[in-house]
Amino acid sequence: MDYKRMIIEVEAPEQIGYEKVKYNLTESSISDTVFGDIKLDINSLKLCYGDHLGKAELRSLIVTEFKNINAENVLITAGAASALFIVATTLLEKEDHLIVIRPNYASNIETPRAIGCEISYCDLSFESRFEINVEDIRSQIKSNTKLISLTHPHNPTGMIISQDTLLQIAELAAEHNCFLLVDETYRELHLGEMYPIGASLHPSIITVSSVSKAYGLPGIRIGWLITQNTMLFEKFLAAKEQIFLCNSVIDEEIAFQYLSKKETYLPFIKNHISANHKTLLEWIKTETRMEMILPEGGVVCFPRIKNDENMDMKKFYTTLNSKYETFVGPGYWFEMPAHYMRIGFGWPSNKELSEGLKNISLCLDDCC
Ligand SMILES: Cc1ncc(COP(=O)(O)O)c(C=O)c1O
Repeated sequence: MDYKRMIIEVEAPEQIGYEKVKYNLTESSISDTVFGDIKLDINSLKLCYGDHLGKAELRSLIVTEFKNINAENVLITAGAASALFIVATTLLEKEDHLIVIRPNYASNIETPRAIGCEISYCDLSFESRFEINVEDIRSQIKSNTKLISLTHPHNPTGMIISQDTLLQIAELAAEHNCFLLVDETYRELHLGEMYPIGASLHPSIITVSSVSKAYGLPGIRIGWLITQNTMLFEKFLAAKEQIFLCNSVIDEEIAFQYLSKKETYLPFIKNHISANHKTLLEWIKTETRMEMILPEGGVVCFPRIKNDENMDMKKFYTTLNSKYETFVGPGYWFEMPAHYMRIGFGWPSNKELSEGLKNISLCLDDCC
C-alpha cells in the first residue's frame, strides 16, 4: 500500500494547533463535547477485551428504530475513518474498479489510491446544484466495478439525496454485483425530517457513521459500519480483528451513555445549528462576491468566489488565516479549485460564526 498524507488532515486545526484558530469555520461537526456532561463510573468498568463486534447494547441502540437491520448487522469501529478503511481494503484490490462521487471525504479516495485500484469519478458541479446524476454513474460501471462511494448528507456541499435517487443507485449496484458505500457521518445533523439509515433501505448499501460529527465526540473514536449482507459482515469483522481486535471499552461505554440520552442532547444541537444556518444565509445574501448552493443537511456548505480569475487565492487564505485568524476548508482539500471553500457552521458559537463570516468579507475587500 502506497500511503500518502491527505492535505485535509495535514492542515486540520488539531494539527495547526487550536489556539491559533480563533474563528474555526473548518469543521464539519458541532464543537467538541465536554466530558463533564457524561456521567461515567470509570472504576466499575472492567478493562477487558471487549466483544469484537462492539458493545452489544451500543450496537442495538444504533439501529433500534430501523427496519431490516439489528445489532448483528452493526460492527463498531474506531471512528468512521477506520470503517471506511475496512470497507475499501475488504472490497478493493489492484485489479478492481471503484466509482467515486466527487467531492468526497478524502480517505474515500486516498485509500483506494493507496490500494492502486482503478478509479472513475462522477464529479458534482455547482452548475448542476451538486445533484447526483444516476445516468453518469451507470455510464461509468465496468465489469470489475466493486464499489460506488458517496457521502450523504454530502461533504462538503450539504446536499441531500432523495430516497428515490439513493435507491436507484443501490439497485444499479445490485444489478452489477457491487456495493454502494454511503458515508452518512452527518445524518443526524439533518434539519428536516430524519431519513433512515441507508443500510436499512437496501442490501447493497453499506452505511458508515460515527459519534464524531453530530455529537461532538471525535476524541473517543467510535464509529460503525452496517450491512445486511452477512458474508460481507464476516469479512469486515475479520478485517477489524486483524487491525485492532476490539474497541476501547471506555470509549464504547461513553458512546453508549451518550447515545442513550441523545433525545435530550439533539434538540440543543439542532437549535444551535438552525440559528447558525440562519446567520449563514443572511451573510451570503449580502456577500455578493460569493455564491452558494444552500446546504440542506449536515453543517457544511461549499460556496465559491465569483470572478476569481485575477485573484491570488494563496494570498486570500494566508490573509484570512494570519490577519483575520479565521480558517475555512479551501477547495483543494476536496480536489476542487481554491476559489471554492467549505464553511463549517456547526462548530462555532453564533457570535464566532458571524465574526468569521464578516472576516471572509473583509478578506475579500483586501484581496479582490
Ligand atoms: C464525511 C466524513 N466521513 C468520515 C469522517 C471521519 O470521521 P471520524 O473518523 O471521526 O468518525 C469525516 C471526518 O471529517 C467526514 O467528514
